[in-house]
Amino acid sequence: MLGSLVMAHPLQPSVGHPGSRILSVASYRPRTEVGNEAIAALIDSSDEWIRRRCGIESRRRAAPDEDLVMMATAAASKALAGAGVDPYDVSAVLVATMSHRGPAATVGPLVADALGATQAAAMDLGAACAGFPYALATADALVRGGSARYVVLVGAERMTDIIDERDRGTAFLFGDGAGAVVIGPSPTCDIGPVVWGADGSGSELLRYDEAGFLRMAGPEVFRWATSIVPDLARRALDAAGISAADLAAFIPHQANLRIISATAKALELGPHVRVATDITTNGNTGAASIPQAMAALPDTTGPALLVGFGAGLSYGAQVVMMP
Ligand code: COA
Repeated sequence: MLGSLVMAHPLQPSVGHPGSRILSVASYRPRTEVGNEAIAALIDSSDEWIRRRCGIESRRRAAPDEDLVMMATAAASKALAGAGVDPYDVSAVLVATMSHRGPAATVGPLVADALGATQAAAMDLGAACAGFPYALATADALVRGGSARYVVLVGAERMTDIIDERDRGTAFLFGDGAGAVVIGPSPTCDIGPVVWGADGSGSELLRYDEAGFLRMAGPEVFRWATSIVPDLARRALDAAGISAADLAAFIPHQANLRIISATAKALELGPHVRVATDITTNGNTGAASIPQAMAALPDTTGPALLVGFGAGLSYGAQVVMMP
Protein backbone atom coordinates (compact mmCIF):
# COMPACT_ATOMS: atom_id res chain seq x y z
CA MET A 1 0.00 0.00 0.00
CA LEU A 2 2.78 2.33 0.98
CA GLY A 3 4.34 1.94 -2.50
CA SER A 4 1.27 3.34 -4.23
CA LEU A 5 1.41 6.44 -2.03
CA VAL A 6 5.05 7.20 -2.88
CA MET A 7 5.40 9.50 -5.89
CA ALA A 8 7.19 7.64 -8.71
CA HIS A 9 9.98 9.67 -10.22
CA PRO A 10 12.50 8.77 -12.93
CA LEU A 11 16.01 7.81 -11.89
CA GLN A 12 18.89 9.92 -13.08
CA PRO A 13 20.19 8.45 -16.36
CA SER A 14 23.84 8.01 -17.39
CA VAL A 15 25.18 10.70 -19.68
CA GLY A 16 26.44 9.05 -22.84
CA HIS A 17 28.16 10.02 -26.06
CA PRO A 18 26.91 10.36 -29.64
CA GLY A 19 29.24 7.58 -30.79
CA SER A 20 32.31 5.56 -30.04
CA ARG A 21 35.41 4.62 -31.98
CA ILE A 22 38.37 2.28 -31.96
CA LEU A 23 41.32 4.39 -30.82
CA SER A 24 44.06 1.79 -31.28
CA VAL A 25 44.70 -1.86 -32.01
CA ALA A 26 47.55 -4.17 -30.99
CA SER A 27 48.46 -7.81 -31.06
CA TYR A 28 50.53 -10.29 -29.07
CA ARG A 29 51.96 -13.26 -30.95
CA PRO A 30 53.61 -16.03 -28.94
CA ARG A 31 57.33 -16.46 -29.59
CA THR A 32 57.20 -20.01 -30.98
CA GLU A 33 56.29 -20.47 -34.63
CA VAL A 34 55.13 -24.00 -35.53
CA GLY A 35 55.13 -25.09 -39.17
CA ASN A 36 52.82 -27.70 -40.68
CA GLU A 37 55.32 -30.56 -40.78
CA ALA A 38 55.56 -30.92 -37.00
CA ILE A 39 51.78 -31.15 -36.72
CA ALA A 40 51.25 -33.32 -39.81
CA ALA A 41 53.57 -35.96 -38.41
CA LEU A 42 51.18 -36.59 -35.51
CA ILE A 43 47.95 -36.78 -37.54
CA ASP A 44 48.89 -38.56 -40.79
CA SER A 45 48.62 -35.34 -42.78
CA SER A 46 50.99 -33.20 -44.87
CA ASP A 47 52.09 -29.61 -45.32
CA GLU A 48 50.53 -29.69 -48.79
CA TRP A 49 47.11 -30.89 -47.52
CA ILE A 50 46.97 -28.31 -44.72
CA ARG A 51 47.91 -25.43 -47.06
CA ARG A 52 45.39 -26.56 -49.70
CA ARG A 53 42.45 -27.19 -47.34
CA CYS A 54 42.76 -24.15 -45.06
CA GLY A 55 45.63 -21.92 -46.27
CA ILE A 56 47.71 -22.21 -43.10
CA GLU A 57 51.50 -22.28 -43.41
CA SER A 58 52.35 -21.81 -39.73
CA ARG A 59 50.85 -20.73 -36.43
CA ARG A 60 52.12 -19.55 -33.04
CA ARG A 61 52.03 -21.76 -29.96
CA ALA A 62 52.26 -20.37 -26.44
CA ALA A 63 55.16 -21.43 -24.20
CA PRO A 64 54.43 -22.22 -20.53
CA ASP A 65 55.13 -18.63 -19.48
CA GLU A 66 52.75 -17.29 -22.15
CA ASP A 67 49.47 -17.92 -20.37
CA LEU A 68 46.15 -16.37 -21.30
CA VAL A 69 46.44 -13.46 -18.86
CA MET A 70 50.01 -12.68 -19.89
CA MET A 71 49.13 -12.64 -23.62
CA ALA A 72 45.93 -10.61 -23.09
CA THR A 73 47.76 -8.10 -20.89
CA ALA A 74 50.62 -7.72 -23.38
CA ALA A 75 48.23 -6.94 -26.25
CA ALA A 76 46.06 -4.65 -24.10
CA SER A 77 48.95 -2.62 -22.67
CA LYS A 78 50.32 -2.07 -26.17
CA ALA A 79 46.85 -0.92 -27.30
CA LEU A 80 46.57 1.46 -24.32
CA ALA A 81 49.98 2.95 -25.11
CA GLY A 82 48.92 3.34 -28.77
CA ALA A 83 45.75 5.16 -27.71
CA GLY A 84 47.60 7.31 -25.16
CA VAL A 85 45.09 6.24 -22.49
CA ASP A 86 46.22 5.81 -18.87
CA PRO A 87 45.10 2.43 -17.40
CA TYR A 88 43.64 4.36 -14.45
CA ASP A 89 41.13 6.00 -16.83
CA VAL A 90 39.79 2.69 -18.18
CA SER A 91 36.16 2.08 -17.17
CA ALA A 92 35.80 -1.52 -18.36
CA VAL A 93 37.98 -4.44 -19.45
CA LEU A 94 36.26 -7.08 -21.60
CA VAL A 95 38.03 -10.32 -22.43
CA ALA A 96 36.50 -12.42 -25.22
CA THR A 97 37.76 -15.99 -24.92
CA MET A 98 36.71 -19.60 -25.24
CA SER A 99 39.90 -21.22 -23.93
CA HIS A 100 40.27 -20.02 -20.34
CA ARG A 101 41.13 -23.07 -18.23
CA GLY A 102 42.93 -21.54 -15.24
CA PRO A 103 41.80 -21.71 -11.59
CA ALA A 104 40.29 -18.21 -11.64
CA ALA A 105 36.58 -18.08 -12.47
CA THR A 106 37.13 -15.26 -14.95
CA VAL A 107 40.21 -13.72 -16.54
CA GLY A 108 38.91 -10.16 -17.05
CA PRO A 109 39.69 -9.05 -13.47
CA LEU A 110 43.19 -10.59 -13.69
CA VAL A 111 43.90 -8.69 -16.92
CA ALA A 112 42.55 -5.44 -15.42
CA ASP A 113 44.77 -5.95 -12.37
CA ALA A 114 47.86 -6.69 -14.49
CA LEU A 115 47.16 -3.55 -16.56
CA GLY A 116 46.75 -1.36 -13.50
CA ALA A 117 43.17 -0.59 -14.54
CA THR A 118 42.15 -0.30 -10.91
CA GLN A 119 38.95 1.70 -11.57
CA ALA A 120 37.61 -0.66 -14.24
CA ALA A 121 34.78 -3.18 -14.25
CA ALA A 122 36.09 -6.40 -15.77
CA MET A 123 34.46 -9.46 -17.27
CA ASP A 124 34.81 -12.30 -19.75
CA LEU A 125 32.57 -12.57 -22.76
CA GLY A 126 31.98 -16.03 -24.16
CA ALA A 127 30.85 -16.11 -27.78
CA ALA A 128 33.72 -18.23 -29.16
CA CYS A 129 34.90 -17.04 -32.57
CA ALA A 130 32.11 -14.43 -32.69
CA GLY A 131 33.46 -13.03 -29.41
CA PHE A 132 35.13 -9.96 -30.87
CA PRO A 133 32.10 -8.52 -32.74
CA TYR A 134 29.91 -9.36 -29.72
CA ALA A 135 32.28 -7.63 -27.29
CA LEU A 136 32.74 -4.68 -29.65
CA ALA A 137 28.95 -4.16 -29.78
CA THR A 138 28.90 -4.33 -25.96
CA ALA A 139 31.75 -1.83 -25.61
CA ASP A 140 30.11 0.55 -28.10
CA ALA A 141 26.84 0.40 -26.13
CA LEU A 142 28.66 1.01 -22.83
CA VAL A 143 30.34 4.14 -24.19
CA ARG A 144 27.30 5.53 -26.02
CA GLY A 145 25.08 4.81 -23.01
CA GLY A 146 27.45 6.50 -20.60
CA SER A 147 28.40 3.43 -18.52
CA ALA A 148 32.02 3.66 -19.66
CA ARG A 149 34.41 6.18 -21.17
CA TYR A 150 37.36 4.02 -22.21
CA VAL A 151 36.94 0.28 -22.73
CA VAL A 152 39.77 -2.18 -23.26
CA LEU A 153 38.57 -5.12 -25.33
CA VAL A 154 40.83 -8.12 -25.67
CA GLY A 155 40.32 -11.29 -27.71
CA ALA A 156 42.67 -13.89 -26.24
CA GLU A 157 43.04 -17.61 -26.80
CA ARG A 158 45.41 -20.33 -25.68
CA MET A 159 43.92 -22.94 -27.99
CA THR A 160 46.85 -25.24 -27.15
CA ASP A 161 45.04 -25.94 -23.85
CA ILE A 162 41.85 -27.15 -25.54
CA ILE A 163 43.14 -28.86 -28.70
CA ASP A 164 44.07 -32.53 -28.85
CA GLU A 165 47.33 -32.56 -30.82
CA ARG A 166 46.36 -35.96 -32.27
CA ASP A 167 42.91 -34.86 -33.49
CA ARG A 168 43.02 -34.92 -37.30
CA GLY A 169 40.10 -32.48 -37.49
CA THR A 170 41.48 -29.63 -35.36
CA ALA A 171 45.21 -30.02 -34.55
CA PHE A 172 46.43 -28.13 -37.64
CA LEU A 173 43.83 -25.35 -37.57
CA PHE A 174 44.21 -23.41 -34.34
CA GLY A 175 46.85 -21.08 -32.92
CA ASP A 176 47.43 -19.05 -29.75
CA GLY A 177 47.59 -15.28 -29.24
CA ALA A 178 45.79 -12.10 -28.27
CA GLY A 179 44.54 -8.96 -29.98
CA ALA A 180 43.27 -5.83 -28.24
CA VAL A 181 41.55 -2.55 -29.02
CA VAL A 182 40.82 0.53 -26.94
CA ILE A 183 37.40 2.07 -27.48
CA GLY A 184 36.53 5.61 -26.49
CA PRO A 185 33.90 8.31 -27.05
CA SER A 186 33.49 9.98 -30.42
CA PRO A 187 31.32 12.82 -31.74
CA THR A 188 30.51 10.57 -34.72
CA CYS A 189 29.41 6.94 -34.98
CA ASP A 190 32.62 5.11 -35.91
CA ILE A 191 31.44 1.67 -34.80
CA GLY A 192 28.46 0.73 -36.94
CA PRO A 193 25.37 -1.15 -35.82
CA VAL A 194 25.97 -4.81 -35.01
CA VAL A 195 24.08 -7.54 -36.86
CA TRP A 196 24.24 -10.67 -34.75
CA GLY A 197 22.56 -13.88 -33.79
CA ALA A 198 22.93 -17.40 -32.49
CA ASP A 199 21.67 -20.89 -33.30
CA GLY A 200 22.07 -23.24 -30.35
CA SER A 201 20.56 -26.10 -32.35
CA GLY A 202 23.98 -26.35 -34.03
CA SER A 203 26.00 -26.41 -30.79
CA GLU A 204 27.06 -30.04 -31.37
CA LEU A 205 29.12 -29.01 -34.40
CA LEU A 206 31.76 -27.43 -32.14
CA ARG A 207 31.77 -28.84 -28.63
CA TYR A 208 34.01 -29.90 -25.77
CA ASP A 209 34.44 -33.61 -25.09
CA GLU A 210 34.66 -35.15 -21.59
CA ALA A 211 38.38 -34.38 -21.42
CA GLY A 212 37.77 -30.70 -22.27
CA PHE A 213 39.12 -30.91 -25.82
CA LEU A 214 37.37 -29.00 -28.60
CA ARG A 215 35.86 -31.31 -31.22
CA MET A 216 34.63 -30.00 -34.56
CA ALA A 217 32.48 -31.37 -37.37
CA GLY A 218 34.68 -29.63 -39.95
CA PRO A 219 32.74 -30.11 -43.21
CA GLU A 220 29.43 -29.17 -41.52
CA VAL A 221 30.94 -26.05 -39.95
CA PHE A 222 32.43 -25.15 -43.32
CA ARG A 223 29.04 -25.47 -45.05
CA TRP A 224 27.29 -23.48 -42.30
CA ALA A 225 29.87 -20.68 -42.40
CA THR A 226 29.88 -20.31 -46.19
CA SER A 227 26.06 -20.29 -46.20
CA ILE A 228 25.57 -17.53 -43.58
CA VAL A 229 28.62 -15.26 -43.76
CA PRO A 230 27.97 -13.43 -47.09
CA ASP A 231 24.41 -12.51 -46.07
CA LEU A 232 25.56 -11.48 -42.58
CA ALA A 233 28.22 -9.27 -44.17
CA ARG A 234 25.70 -7.63 -46.52
CA ARG A 235 23.33 -6.93 -43.64
CA ALA A 236 26.13 -5.26 -41.64
CA LEU A 237 26.95 -3.06 -44.66
CA ASP A 238 23.25 -2.15 -45.04
CA ALA A 239 22.96 -1.37 -41.31
CA ALA A 240 25.97 0.99 -41.58
CA GLY A 241 24.51 2.62 -44.69
CA ILE A 242 27.47 1.85 -46.94
CA SER A 243 28.17 -0.54 -49.80
CA ALA A 244 31.01 -3.03 -50.37
CA ALA A 245 32.58 -0.53 -52.78
CA ASP A 246 33.05 1.93 -49.88
CA LEU A 247 35.14 -0.50 -47.85
CA ALA A 248 38.84 -0.07 -47.24
CA ALA A 249 39.22 -3.49 -45.63
CA PHE A 250 37.44 -6.77 -45.03
CA ILE A 251 38.53 -8.43 -41.77
CA PRO A 252 36.61 -11.65 -41.17
CA HIS A 253 37.33 -14.20 -38.46
CA GLN A 254 40.37 -16.11 -39.69
CA ALA A 255 38.74 -19.57 -39.72
CA ASN A 256 39.90 -20.93 -43.04
CA LEU A 257 41.39 -19.15 -46.07
CA ARG A 258 38.82 -20.85 -48.32
CA ILE A 259 35.94 -19.35 -46.30
CA ILE A 260 37.62 -15.90 -46.45
CA SER A 261 38.16 -16.12 -50.22
CA ALA A 262 34.65 -17.46 -50.90
CA THR A 263 33.11 -14.58 -48.92
CA ALA A 264 35.29 -11.93 -50.56
CA LYS A 265 34.19 -13.30 -53.93
CA ALA A 266 30.49 -13.44 -52.96
CA LEU A 267 30.68 -9.78 -51.83
CA GLU A 268 32.39 -8.85 -55.15
CA LEU A 269 35.02 -6.85 -53.30
CA GLY A 270 37.07 -4.60 -55.58
CA PRO A 271 40.88 -4.76 -55.74
CA HIS A 272 41.13 -1.65 -53.51
CA VAL A 273 39.67 -3.57 -50.53
CA ARG A 274 42.38 -5.09 -48.34
CA VAL A 275 41.30 -8.59 -47.36
CA ALA A 276 42.84 -9.88 -44.11
CA THR A 277 44.62 -13.19 -44.59
CA ASP A 278 46.47 -13.33 -41.28
CA ILE A 279 45.47 -17.01 -41.02
CA THR A 280 48.36 -18.03 -43.28
CA THR A 281 50.97 -17.36 -40.58
CA ASN A 282 48.78 -17.23 -37.48
CA GLY A 283 46.24 -20.04 -37.82
CA ASN A 284 42.74 -19.68 -36.39
CA THR A 285 43.07 -17.86 -33.05
CA GLY A 286 39.38 -17.85 -32.11
CA ALA A 287 38.21 -14.61 -30.51
CA ALA A 288 41.69 -13.11 -31.03
CA SER A 289 41.71 -13.52 -34.78
CA ILE A 290 39.87 -10.33 -35.82
CA PRO A 291 41.88 -7.84 -33.71
CA GLN A 292 45.10 -9.66 -34.60
CA ALA A 293 44.23 -9.51 -38.29
CA MET A 294 43.32 -5.83 -37.89
CA ALA A 295 46.70 -5.10 -36.28
CA ALA A 296 48.34 -6.88 -39.22
CA LEU A 297 46.84 -4.31 -41.65
CA PRO A 298 48.72 -1.14 -40.66
CA ASP A 299 48.25 2.10 -42.59
CA THR A 300 44.66 1.22 -43.51
CA THR A 301 42.21 4.06 -43.03
CA GLY A 302 38.47 4.12 -43.66
CA PRO A 303 35.68 1.62 -43.13
CA ALA A 304 36.41 -2.04 -42.41
CA LEU A 305 33.86 -4.83 -42.33
CA LEU A 306 34.31 -7.27 -39.42
CA VAL A 307 32.57 -10.67 -39.38
CA GLY A 308 32.86 -13.28 -36.63
CA PHE A 309 31.28 -16.75 -36.50
CA GLY A 310 31.82 -20.05 -34.77
CA ALA A 311 30.88 -22.26 -31.83
CA GLY A 312 27.53 -21.60 -30.26
CA LEU A 313 26.69 -21.39 -33.03
CA SER A 314 27.11 -17.62 -32.82
CA TYR A 315 27.74 -14.93 -35.40
CA GLY A 316 28.09 -11.15 -35.52
CA ALA A 317 29.26 -8.42 -37.88
CA GLN A 318 29.68 -4.66 -37.99
CA VAL A 319 31.46 -1.95 -39.96
CA VAL A 320 34.06 0.08 -38.07
CA MET A 321 36.33 2.97 -38.95
CA MET A 322 39.92 1.77 -38.77
CA PRO A 323 41.93 3.42 -35.97
N1 COA B 1 45.09 -34.36 -43.11
C1 COA B 1 44.99 -35.04 -44.26
N2 COA B 1 43.84 -35.50 -44.74
C2 COA B 1 42.74 -35.26 -44.00
C3 COA B 1 42.78 -34.58 -42.78
C4 COA B 1 44.01 -34.12 -42.34
N3 COA B 1 44.15 -33.44 -41.19
N4 COA B 1 41.53 -34.48 -42.27
C5 COA B 1 40.73 -35.09 -43.16
N5 COA B 1 41.48 -35.58 -44.20
C6 COA B 1 41.01 -36.29 -45.38
C7 COA B 1 39.76 -37.07 -45.11
O1 COA B 1 40.09 -38.38 -44.67
C8 COA B 1 39.11 -37.09 -46.46
O2 COA B 1 39.75 -38.04 -47.28
P1 COA B 1 38.94 -38.89 -48.40
O3 COA B 1 38.43 -37.85 -49.37
O4 COA B 1 39.96 -39.79 -48.96
O5 COA B 1 37.84 -39.58 -47.65
C9 COA B 1 39.44 -35.71 -47.03
O6 COA B 1 40.64 -35.29 -46.35
C10 COA B 1 38.37 -34.68 -46.84
O7 COA B 1 38.00 -34.69 -45.45
P2 COA B 1 37.06 -33.59 -44.82
O8 COA B 1 36.83 -33.90 -43.39
O9 COA B 1 35.84 -33.46 -45.73
O10 COA B 1 38.00 -32.33 -44.90
P3 COA B 1 37.68 -30.86 -45.43
O11 COA B 1 38.02 -30.73 -46.84
O12 COA B 1 36.30 -30.45 -45.00
O13 COA B 1 38.73 -29.98 -44.61
C11 COA B 1 38.69 -28.65 -42.64
C12 COA B 1 38.76 -30.06 -43.20
C13 COA B 1 38.65 -28.74 -41.11
C14 COA B 1 39.90 -27.87 -43.09
C15 COA B 1 37.41 -27.93 -43.13
O14 COA B 1 36.30 -28.78 -42.96
C16 COA B 1 37.15 -26.66 -42.45
O15 COA B 1 37.92 -25.72 -42.54
N6 COA B 1 35.99 -26.53 -41.78
C17 COA B 1 35.61 -25.31 -41.16
C18 COA B 1 36.44 -25.09 -39.97
C19 COA B 1 36.18 -23.78 -39.36
O16 COA B 1 35.95 -22.80 -40.01
N7 COA B 1 36.25 -23.77 -38.09
C20 COA B 1 36.20 -22.54 -37.44
C21 COA B 1 35.13 -22.46 -36.54
S1 COA B 1 35.60 -21.14 -35.55
